[in-house]
Amino acid sequence: MNTFGKLRLGINIDHVATIRNARGGALPDPLRAALLAEVSGADGITAHLREDRRHIRDGDIEALMAGISIPLNFECAATPEMQAIALRLKPHAVCLVPEKREERTTEGGLDVAGDEQRLAAFIAPLRDAGCRVSLFIGHEAAQIHASARIGAAVVELHTGRYCDLMAEGLHDEAAQEREALRKGAMLAHSLGLEVHMGHGLDYETASHVALFPEVVELNIGHFLIGEAVFRGLGPAIEEMRRRIDGARAGVPQA
Ligand code: PXP
Repeated sequence: MNTFGKLRLGINIDHVATIRNARGGALPDPLRAALLAEVSGADGITAHLREDRRHIRDGDIEALMAGISIPLNFECAATPEMQAIALRLKPHAVCLVPEKREERTTEGGLDVAGDEQRLAAFIAPLRDAGCRVSLFIGHEAAQIHASARIGAAVVELHTGRYCDLMAEGLHDEAAQEREALRKGAMLAHSLGLEVHMGHGLDYETASHVALFPEVVELNIGHFLIGEAVFRGLGPAIEEMRRRIDGARAGVPQA
C-alpha cells in the first residue's frame, strides 16, 4: 500500500474545445465536460490557453473559473500576456509549459535551468497572488534543481517520451525512461517540490506511474477525450480513477 495517499486525477479538457473549434459554434462545451469530469472522479481540471487559441479560448477559462468547484490548473506559456491573464483570474494553479507555434502538442519540458532568472521573476507575482506555480519539465536533475531554486511549488514531469516508447513496443527503452521518471520524482520530492506527471498517459501507462509514491497528481487529457467517443466521458474517467487507485493500492493491473 502506498503510504503517500490518494493520487489526484486532473482532467485536461483542451480537446473538447478542439472538437468544438473544428466546426465553430459553441458545442461541445468544455465547461460541460469539466462538470461531468467533476462528478466522475476528477480532482481538478486543466486547460491550456495557447498563444494561438487553437483549442481553449479566454472565455473558456473564465467560464471554468466561474463554473467548476474543483481546482483549475491554468496551463500557459511564460509570456507577459498569460501572466496578466493569470494575475487577473487567479486560478488555483498556473502550470508553465514551453510553447511552439508549429508543434501539435507540448513536445518537451520547460528549460528552467537555461532560463532561470527570467522564470524566477516571472513566477514571483503569481506566487504573491496565491497561485500554486507548477513547471512542466523533463526528468533531468538540472531542471529539477533549477525548479526548486526559483521557488516553484510543483513540478510536473513530462511522461510523453515514456508513453511513446510504450506505444511503439520499445520495452527496454521504456523501462529506462520509467526509471528516470522514478528517480526524477524522488529527487523533486526530496527538494520539497510537489510532484505531478502528465502527457500521453493512457490506462496502462497511468497505472505504471501511479506506482511512484512521490507522485501526487496525474494530468490526463487526449486519451480520455478519445475514449469518450466510445464509452462516454464519465465512464472513461471513472475507469481511469479505478485503474490509478487500484495501482496505488497495490492491486495487480490487467
Ligand atoms: N500536462 C501538461 C503540462 C500538458 O501540457 C498536457 C497536454 O496539454 C497534459 C498534461 C495532458 O496531456 P495529454 O492530453 O496527452 O493527456
